Amino acid sequence: MNFLWKFRPSWMVLVRTPSDWYMVPMFAERVDQIKPFVVMEVLARAAELEEEGHRVVHFEVGEPDFPTAEPIVAAGRDALSAGRTKYTQATGIPELRRTISDYYSGLGVSVDPERIIVTPGASGGLVLLAGLLLDPGNELLITDPGYPCNEVFAMLAGGVPKRVAVTANNRFQPLANDLFDAWSDSSRGALLASPTNPTGTMLDPEVLAEIAKGLKARGGFLILDEIYQGLVSSPPYRSGLEIVDDLFVLNSFSKYFGMTGWRLGWNVVPDDAVDYMTHLAMNLFISPSTPAQYAALAAFEPAAMAIHEERARVFRERAEVLAEGLRDLGFTIPVMPDGAFYLYVDISHTGMDSTDFCWKLLNEYQVAITPGEDFGNHLQERFVRFAYTTDEDSIRLGLERIADALDELA
Ligand SMILES: Cc1ncc(COP(=O)(O)O)c(C=O)c1O
Repeated sequence: MNFLWKFRPSWMVLVRTPSDWYMVPMFAERVDQIKPFVVMEVLARAAELEEEGHRVVHFEVGEPDFPTAEPIVAAGRDALSAGRTKYTQATGIPELRRTISDYYSGLGVSVDPERIIVTPGASGGLVLLAGLLLDPGNELLITDPGYPCNEVFAMLAGGVPKRVAVTANNRFQPLANDLFDAWSDSSRGALLASPTNPTGTMLDPEVLAEIAKGLKARGGFLILDEIYQGLVSSPPYRSGLEIVDDLFVLNSFSKYFGMTGWRLGWNVVPDDAVDYMTHLAMNLFISPSTPAQYAALAAFEPAAMAIHEERARVFRERAEVLAEGLRDLGFTIPVMPDGAFYLYVDISHTGMDSTDFCWKLLNEYQVAITPGEDFGNHLQERFVRFAYTTDEDSIRLGLERIADALDELA
Protein backbone atom coordinates (compact mmCIF):
# COMPACT_ATOMS: atom_id res chain seq x y z
CA MET A 1 0.00 0.00 0.00
CA ASN A 2 1.92 3.09 -1.10
CA PHE A 3 -0.62 5.86 -0.66
CA LEU A 4 -4.16 6.64 0.33
CA TRP A 5 -6.65 9.03 -1.11
CA LYS A 6 -9.61 9.90 0.93
CA PHE A 7 -12.66 10.97 -1.07
CA ARG A 8 -14.76 13.44 0.85
CA PRO A 9 -17.47 13.23 2.01
CA SER A 10 -17.34 9.50 1.36
CA TRP A 11 -15.79 7.29 4.05
CA MET A 12 -14.28 4.92 1.46
CA VAL A 13 -10.57 5.11 0.89
CA LEU A 14 -8.98 4.32 -2.44
CA VAL A 15 -5.84 2.23 -2.01
CA ARG A 16 -3.27 1.80 -4.81
CA THR A 17 -0.63 -0.86 -4.75
CA PRO A 18 1.92 -1.47 -7.58
CA SER A 19 -0.43 -4.10 -9.04
CA ASP A 20 -3.91 -3.09 -7.97
CA TRP A 21 -6.44 -0.45 -6.93
CA TYR A 22 -9.18 -1.08 -4.43
CA MET A 23 -11.53 0.66 -2.03
CA VAL A 24 -11.54 0.04 1.71
CA PRO A 25 -13.84 1.50 4.32
CA MET A 26 -12.22 4.11 6.55
CA PHE A 27 -14.65 3.70 9.45
CA ALA A 28 -16.19 0.71 11.16
CA GLU A 29 -19.49 -0.47 9.74
CA ARG A 30 -21.24 0.09 13.05
CA VAL A 31 -20.96 3.85 12.82
CA ASP A 32 -23.51 3.79 10.04
CA GLN A 33 -25.97 2.13 12.41
CA ILE A 34 -25.54 4.76 15.11
CA LYS A 35 -28.09 7.45 14.42
CA PRO A 36 -28.20 10.87 16.01
CA PHE A 37 -31.28 11.54 18.12
CA VAL A 38 -34.04 13.76 16.88
CA VAL A 39 -33.87 15.43 20.28
CA MET A 40 -30.40 16.75 19.43
CA GLU A 41 -31.83 18.34 16.30
CA VAL A 42 -34.70 19.69 18.39
CA LEU A 43 -32.18 21.20 20.83
CA ALA A 44 -30.21 22.78 18.01
CA ARG A 45 -33.35 24.26 16.44
CA ALA A 46 -34.51 25.51 19.86
CA ALA A 47 -31.15 27.26 20.32
CA GLU A 48 -31.57 28.93 16.91
CA LEU A 49 -35.04 30.13 17.84
CA GLU A 50 -33.70 31.50 21.11
CA GLU A 51 -30.96 33.33 19.25
CA GLU A 52 -33.67 34.91 17.11
CA GLY A 53 -35.21 36.21 20.36
CA HIS A 54 -37.99 33.63 20.94
CA ARG A 55 -38.74 32.18 24.36
CA VAL A 56 -38.71 28.41 23.93
CA VAL A 57 -40.42 26.18 26.48
CA HIS A 58 -38.15 23.21 27.04
CA PHE A 59 -39.81 19.86 27.68
CA GLU A 60 -37.13 17.94 25.81
CA VAL A 61 -34.18 18.05 28.19
CA GLY A 62 -33.51 14.88 30.20
CA GLU A 63 -31.60 16.53 33.02
CA PRO A 64 -32.66 18.43 36.13
CA ASP A 65 -33.04 22.16 35.55
CA PHE A 66 -31.69 22.82 39.07
CA PRO A 67 -28.02 23.63 39.54
CA THR A 68 -25.91 21.13 41.47
CA ALA A 69 -26.66 21.52 45.19
CA GLU A 70 -24.36 24.07 46.83
CA PRO A 71 -22.75 21.67 49.38
CA ILE A 72 -21.58 19.52 46.45
CA VAL A 73 -20.27 22.51 44.52
CA ALA A 74 -18.41 23.70 47.63
CA ALA A 75 -16.83 20.26 48.10
CA GLY A 76 -15.81 20.28 44.43
CA ARG A 77 -14.23 23.70 44.84
CA ASP A 78 -12.38 22.53 47.96
CA ALA A 79 -11.15 19.46 46.10
CA LEU A 80 -9.71 21.60 43.33
CA SER A 81 -8.09 24.01 45.82
CA ALA A 82 -6.57 21.06 47.67
CA GLY A 83 -5.02 19.81 44.43
CA ARG A 84 -7.27 16.78 44.05
CA THR A 85 -6.59 16.74 40.35
CA LYS A 86 -4.56 13.55 39.86
CA TYR A 87 -5.75 10.08 38.88
CA THR A 88 -7.39 7.97 41.56
CA GLN A 89 -7.91 4.23 41.90
CA ALA A 90 -9.60 2.90 38.76
CA THR A 91 -12.71 1.87 40.67
CA GLY A 92 -12.97 5.11 42.61
CA ILE A 93 -11.67 6.48 45.88
CA PRO A 94 -12.32 4.11 48.80
CA GLU A 95 -14.16 6.87 50.77
CA LEU A 96 -16.70 7.23 47.99
CA ARG A 97 -17.19 3.49 47.57
CA ARG A 98 -17.73 3.23 51.34
CA THR A 99 -20.13 6.18 51.27
CA ILE A 100 -22.16 4.60 48.48
CA SER A 101 -22.17 1.34 50.44
CA ASP A 102 -23.50 3.26 53.49
CA TYR A 103 -26.17 4.80 51.25
CA TYR A 104 -27.33 1.27 50.38
CA SER A 105 -27.28 0.34 54.08
CA GLY A 106 -29.65 3.29 54.61
CA LEU A 107 -31.95 1.68 52.03
CA GLY A 108 -31.75 -1.57 53.96
CA VAL A 109 -29.40 -3.31 51.51
CA SER A 110 -25.98 -4.58 52.45
CA VAL A 111 -23.44 -4.01 49.65
CA ASP A 112 -19.73 -4.55 50.23
CA PRO A 113 -17.84 -1.41 49.03
CA GLU A 114 -15.64 -3.78 46.97
CA ARG A 115 -18.63 -4.49 44.75
CA ILE A 116 -19.07 -0.81 43.95
CA ILE A 117 -17.25 0.47 40.87
CA VAL A 118 -17.28 4.26 40.46
CA THR A 119 -17.60 5.19 36.79
CA PRO A 120 -17.62 8.19 34.43
CA GLY A 121 -21.42 8.50 34.57
CA ALA A 122 -23.81 5.63 34.07
CA SER A 123 -22.66 5.87 30.45
CA GLY A 124 -19.17 4.83 31.53
CA GLY A 125 -20.79 2.07 33.60
CA LEU A 126 -22.58 0.80 30.50
CA VAL A 127 -19.31 0.65 28.58
CA LEU A 128 -17.78 -1.44 31.36
CA LEU A 129 -20.76 -3.77 31.63
CA ALA A 130 -20.91 -4.26 27.87
CA GLY A 131 -17.18 -5.06 27.92
CA LEU A 132 -17.67 -7.48 30.79
CA LEU A 133 -20.77 -9.30 29.62
CA LEU A 134 -21.00 -9.33 25.83
CA ASP A 135 -19.00 -11.20 23.23
CA PRO A 136 -19.49 -10.51 19.52
CA GLY A 137 -22.84 -11.83 18.35
CA ASN A 138 -24.35 -12.02 21.84
CA GLU A 139 -27.86 -10.67 22.11
CA LEU A 140 -28.80 -8.17 24.78
CA LEU A 141 -32.55 -7.87 25.42
CA ILE A 142 -33.71 -4.29 25.90
CA THR A 143 -37.14 -2.69 26.02
CA ASP A 144 -38.89 -0.75 23.28
CA PRO A 145 -39.47 2.03 24.16
CA GLY A 146 -36.31 2.42 26.20
CA TYR A 147 -33.18 4.49 26.71
CA PRO A 148 -31.82 4.80 23.16
CA CYS A 149 -28.08 4.64 23.93
CA ASN A 150 -28.39 1.10 25.33
CA GLU A 151 -28.22 -0.27 21.81
CA VAL A 152 -24.97 1.49 21.08
CA PHE A 153 -23.21 0.19 24.18
CA ALA A 154 -24.14 -3.34 23.16
CA MET A 155 -22.98 -2.75 19.59
CA LEU A 156 -19.61 -1.36 20.67
CA ALA A 157 -18.85 -4.69 22.28
CA GLY A 158 -20.00 -6.47 19.11
CA GLY A 159 -23.27 -7.40 20.81
CA VAL A 160 -26.67 -7.42 19.17
CA PRO A 161 -29.40 -5.40 20.87
CA LYS A 162 -32.78 -7.12 20.67
CA ARG A 163 -35.82 -4.98 21.33
CA VAL A 164 -38.71 -6.35 23.31
CA ALA A 165 -41.90 -4.31 22.93
CA VAL A 166 -43.47 -3.11 26.18
CA THR A 167 -46.92 -1.59 26.32
CA ALA A 168 -49.07 0.61 28.50
CA ASN A 169 -51.03 -2.52 29.52
CA ASN A 170 -48.11 -3.51 31.68
CA ARG A 171 -46.95 0.01 32.57
CA PHE A 172 -44.32 -0.05 29.80
CA GLN A 173 -42.37 -2.78 31.62
CA PRO A 174 -41.85 -6.34 30.41
CA LEU A 175 -43.50 -9.37 31.92
CA ALA A 176 -41.12 -12.25 32.53
CA ASN A 177 -42.53 -14.19 29.57
CA ASP A 178 -41.96 -11.26 27.21
CA LEU A 179 -38.25 -11.69 27.85
CA PHE A 180 -38.28 -15.48 27.96
CA ASP A 181 -40.19 -15.61 24.64
CA ALA A 182 -37.61 -13.30 23.06
CA TRP A 183 -34.73 -15.39 24.41
CA SER A 184 -32.71 -17.27 21.80
CA ASP A 185 -29.55 -19.37 21.76
CA SER A 186 -27.61 -16.17 21.10
CA SER A 187 -29.13 -14.25 24.02
CA ARG A 188 -26.83 -13.49 26.94
CA GLY A 189 -28.88 -11.23 29.17
CA ALA A 190 -31.23 -8.30 29.57
CA LEU A 191 -30.88 -4.64 30.43
CA LEU A 192 -33.95 -3.17 32.12
CA ALA A 193 -34.55 0.10 33.93
CA SER A 194 -36.62 0.93 36.98
CA PRO A 195 -37.82 3.68 36.75
CA THR A 196 -37.39 3.91 33.00
CA ASN A 197 -36.64 6.57 30.51
CA PRO A 198 -38.95 7.55 28.70
CA THR A 199 -41.93 6.34 30.75
CA GLY A 200 -40.84 6.73 34.38
CA THR A 201 -42.38 3.42 35.43
CA MET A 202 -40.91 0.84 37.80
CA LEU A 203 -40.62 -2.88 37.31
CA ASP A 204 -42.95 -4.78 39.61
CA PRO A 205 -40.88 -6.45 42.40
CA GLU A 206 -42.34 -9.90 41.82
CA VAL A 207 -41.75 -9.67 38.09
CA LEU A 208 -38.19 -8.52 38.76
CA ALA A 209 -37.61 -11.60 40.92
CA GLU A 210 -39.17 -13.87 38.29
CA ILE A 211 -37.10 -12.34 35.49
CA ALA A 212 -33.86 -12.61 37.47
CA LYS A 213 -34.58 -16.24 38.32
CA GLY A 214 -35.56 -17.13 34.74
CA LEU A 215 -32.52 -15.44 33.23
CA LYS A 216 -30.24 -17.17 35.69
CA ALA A 217 -31.77 -20.52 34.79
CA ARG A 218 -30.91 -19.74 31.15
CA GLY A 219 -27.34 -18.82 32.09
CA GLY A 220 -28.10 -15.13 31.49
CA PHE A 221 -27.41 -11.92 33.37
CA LEU A 222 -29.65 -9.04 34.37
CA ILE A 223 -28.53 -5.42 34.38
CA LEU A 224 -30.89 -3.06 36.21
CA ASP A 225 -30.54 0.63 35.45
CA GLU A 226 -31.50 2.54 38.60
CA ILE A 227 -30.31 5.95 37.48
CA TYR A 228 -33.65 7.54 38.48
CA GLN A 229 -33.50 6.03 41.98
CA GLY A 230 -34.54 8.58 44.58
CA LEU A 231 -36.94 10.34 42.21
CA VAL A 232 -39.86 8.16 43.32
CA SER A 233 -42.18 9.06 46.22
CA SER A 234 -43.09 5.67 47.68
CA PRO A 235 -41.29 3.04 45.65
CA PRO A 236 -42.14 -0.66 46.14
CA TYR A 237 -38.37 -1.15 46.53
CA ARG A 238 -35.53 1.36 46.67
CA SER A 239 -33.06 -0.83 44.84
CA GLY A 240 -33.50 -4.08 42.94
CA LEU A 241 -30.69 -5.37 45.17
CA GLU A 242 -33.32 -5.74 47.89
CA ILE A 243 -34.89 -8.44 45.74
CA VAL A 244 -31.97 -9.97 43.82
CA ASP A 245 -28.45 -9.89 45.21
CA ASP A 246 -26.43 -10.82 42.13
CA LEU A 247 -27.76 -8.10 39.84
CA PHE A 248 -25.56 -5.81 37.80
CA VAL A 249 -26.77 -2.39 38.90
CA LEU A 250 -26.22 0.81 37.03
CA ASN A 251 -26.52 4.11 38.86
CA SER A 252 -25.38 7.69 38.57
CA PHE A 253 -24.95 11.03 40.25
CA SER A 254 -26.63 12.68 37.25
CA LYS A 255 -30.32 12.72 38.06
CA TYR A 256 -31.39 12.56 41.74
CA PHE A 257 -28.05 14.07 42.82
CA GLY A 258 -28.23 16.74 40.09
CA MET A 259 -24.67 16.28 38.82
CA THR A 260 -25.10 15.56 35.10
CA GLY A 261 -22.07 17.53 33.94
CA TRP A 262 -19.73 16.13 36.60
CA ARG A 263 -19.84 12.79 34.79
CA LEU A 264 -19.95 10.39 37.68
CA GLY A 265 -21.87 7.19 38.32
CA TRP A 266 -21.41 3.73 39.72
CA ASN A 267 -22.05 0.05 39.15
CA VAL A 268 -22.75 -2.61 41.72
CA VAL A 269 -21.56 -5.98 40.47
CA PRO A 270 -21.44 -9.51 41.90
CA ASP A 271 -18.23 -10.46 43.73
CA ASP A 272 -16.94 -12.59 40.87
CA ALA A 273 -17.03 -9.64 38.47
CA VAL A 274 -15.05 -7.17 40.59
CA ASP A 275 -11.55 -8.00 39.32
CA TYR A 276 -12.62 -8.02 35.68
CA MET A 277 -14.46 -4.73 36.07
CA THR A 278 -11.36 -3.27 37.71
CA HIS A 279 -9.18 -4.38 34.79
CA LEU A 280 -11.62 -2.96 32.27
CA ALA A 281 -11.94 0.32 34.21
CA MET A 282 -8.18 0.84 34.48
CA ASN A 283 -7.69 0.16 30.78
CA LEU A 284 -10.63 2.14 29.49
CA PHE A 285 -10.77 5.16 31.81
CA ILE A 286 -7.76 4.97 34.17
CA SER A 287 -10.01 6.56 36.78
CA PRO A 288 -13.24 8.52 37.13
CA SER A 289 -13.00 12.31 37.50
CA THR A 290 -11.14 13.07 40.73
CA PRO A 291 -12.71 16.42 41.72
CA ALA A 292 -16.14 15.00 40.89
CA GLN A 293 -15.54 12.07 43.25
CA TYR A 294 -14.62 14.34 46.14
CA ALA A 295 -17.60 16.56 45.36
CA ALA A 296 -19.84 13.50 45.33
CA LEU A 297 -18.86 12.63 48.90
CA ALA A 298 -20.84 15.71 49.93
CA ALA A 299 -23.85 14.57 47.89
CA PHE A 300 -24.79 12.11 50.65
CA GLU A 301 -24.47 14.54 53.56
CA PRO A 302 -27.73 15.57 55.25
CA ALA A 303 -27.63 19.17 53.89
CA ALA A 304 -27.34 17.97 50.30
CA MET A 305 -29.80 15.08 50.78
CA ALA A 306 -32.41 17.58 52.04
CA ILE A 307 -31.95 19.54 48.80
CA HIS A 308 -32.25 16.41 46.64
CA GLU A 309 -35.40 15.34 48.47
CA GLU A 310 -36.98 18.78 48.08
CA ARG A 311 -36.23 18.73 44.35
CA ALA A 312 -37.66 15.25 43.99
CA ARG A 313 -40.85 16.59 45.60
CA VAL A 314 -40.94 19.52 43.16
CA PHE A 315 -40.64 17.10 40.24
CA ARG A 316 -43.62 15.13 41.54
CA GLU A 317 -45.69 18.30 41.82
CA ARG A 318 -44.79 19.31 38.29
CA ALA A 319 -45.80 15.86 37.01
CA GLU A 320 -49.31 16.46 38.34
CA VAL A 321 -49.58 19.97 36.88
CA LEU A 322 -48.35 18.87 33.46
CA ALA A 323 -50.41 15.68 33.35
CA GLU A 324 -53.59 17.50 34.34
CA GLY A 325 -52.96 20.22 31.76
CA LEU A 326 -52.27 17.73 28.98
CA ARG A 327 -55.30 15.62 29.83
CA ASP A 328 -57.48 18.77 29.76
CA LEU A 329 -56.20 19.28 26.24
CA GLY A 330 -57.33 15.80 25.24
CA PHE A 331 -54.00 13.98 25.36
CA THR A 332 -53.89 10.45 26.73
CA ILE A 333 -51.32 9.60 29.36
CA PRO A 334 -51.88 5.87 29.55
CA VAL A 335 -49.62 5.43 32.55
CA MET A 336 -48.59 7.94 35.18
CA PRO A 337 -44.88 7.57 35.96
CA ASP A 338 -43.71 6.21 39.30
CA GLY A 339 -40.74 8.53 39.15
CA ALA A 340 -37.98 10.11 37.04
CA PHE A 341 -39.17 13.30 35.33
CA TYR A 342 -40.92 12.13 32.18
CA LEU A 343 -44.45 11.73 30.88
CA TYR A 344 -44.91 9.46 27.89
CA VAL A 345 -47.90 10.93 26.12
CA ASP A 346 -50.16 9.55 23.39
CA ILE A 347 -50.87 12.29 20.86
CA SER A 348 -53.13 10.27 18.53
CA HIS A 349 -56.02 12.70 18.96
CA THR A 350 -54.03 15.35 17.07
CA GLY A 351 -54.20 13.16 13.96
CA MET A 352 -50.49 13.81 13.45
CA ASP A 353 -47.42 11.62 13.45
CA SER A 354 -45.45 12.28 16.65
CA THR A 355 -42.30 13.49 14.88
CA ASP A 356 -44.27 15.93 12.69
CA PHE A 357 -46.15 17.08 15.77
CA CYS A 358 -42.86 17.78 17.61
CA TRP A 359 -41.52 19.86 14.74
CA LYS A 360 -44.76 21.76 14.37
CA LEU A 361 -44.82 22.59 18.08
CA LEU A 362 -41.23 23.74 18.01
CA ASN A 363 -41.19 25.72 14.80
CA GLU A 364 -44.60 27.34 15.11
CA TYR A 365 -45.22 27.46 18.86
CA GLN A 366 -41.71 27.31 20.37
CA VAL A 367 -42.44 24.28 22.53
CA ALA A 368 -39.73 21.60 22.49
CA ILE A 369 -40.61 17.94 23.14
CA THR A 370 -39.04 14.62 22.12
CA PRO A 371 -40.70 12.32 19.57
CA GLY A 372 -41.25 8.64 20.29
CA GLU A 373 -38.89 7.66 17.49
CA ASP A 374 -35.94 8.45 19.73
CA PHE A 375 -36.92 5.61 22.06
CA GLY A 376 -37.65 2.75 19.66
CA ASN A 377 -40.04 1.53 16.99
CA HIS A 378 -42.99 0.29 18.96
CA LEU A 379 -45.95 2.67 18.46
CA GLN A 380 -43.39 5.44 18.33
CA GLU A 381 -45.46 7.46 15.87
CA ARG A 382 -48.16 7.88 18.54
CA PHE A 383 -46.00 8.91 21.48
CA VAL A 384 -43.91 11.85 22.61
CA ARG A 385 -41.89 12.36 25.78
CA PHE A 386 -42.39 15.44 27.93
CA ALA A 387 -39.60 16.07 30.45
CA TYR A 388 -40.80 18.25 33.31
CA THR A 389 -37.34 19.62 33.88
CA THR A 390 -38.64 23.15 33.68
CA ASP A 391 -40.42 25.34 36.23
CA GLU A 392 -44.16 25.48 36.74
CA ASP A 393 -44.62 28.86 35.03
CA SER A 394 -42.92 27.50 31.92
CA ILE A 395 -45.06 24.36 32.10
CA ARG A 396 -48.20 26.53 32.12
CA LEU A 397 -46.90 28.66 29.25
CA GLY A 398 -46.11 25.49 27.30
CA LEU A 399 -49.63 24.20 27.89
CA GLU A 400 -51.14 27.48 26.63
CA ARG A 401 -49.08 27.28 23.46
CA ILE A 402 -50.01 23.64 22.91
CA ALA A 403 -53.68 24.62 23.32
CA ASP A 404 -53.19 27.19 20.53
CA ALA A 405 -51.59 24.55 18.32
CA LEU A 406 -54.54 22.21 18.88
CA ASP A 407 -57.01 25.00 18.07
CA GLU A 408 -55.22 25.47 14.78
CA LEU A 409 -55.34 21.74 14.05
CA ALA A 410 -59.05 21.42 14.93
C1 LIG B 1 -32.01 5.41 31.61
C2 LIG B 1 -30.70 6.11 31.51
N1 LIG B 1 -29.56 5.41 31.71
C3 LIG B 1 -28.36 5.99 31.62
C4 LIG B 1 -28.23 7.34 31.32
C5 LIG B 1 -26.84 7.94 31.26
O1 LIG B 1 -26.64 8.86 32.29
P1 LIG B 1 -25.24 9.44 32.79
O2 LIG B 1 -24.20 8.96 31.89
O3 LIG B 1 -25.41 10.94 32.78
O4 LIG B 1 -25.06 8.95 34.19
C6 LIG B 1 -29.37 8.11 31.10
C7 LIG B 1 -29.28 9.54 30.75
O5 LIG B 1 -30.25 10.21 30.45
C8 LIG B 1 -30.65 7.47 31.20
O6 LIG B 1 -31.79 8.14 31.01
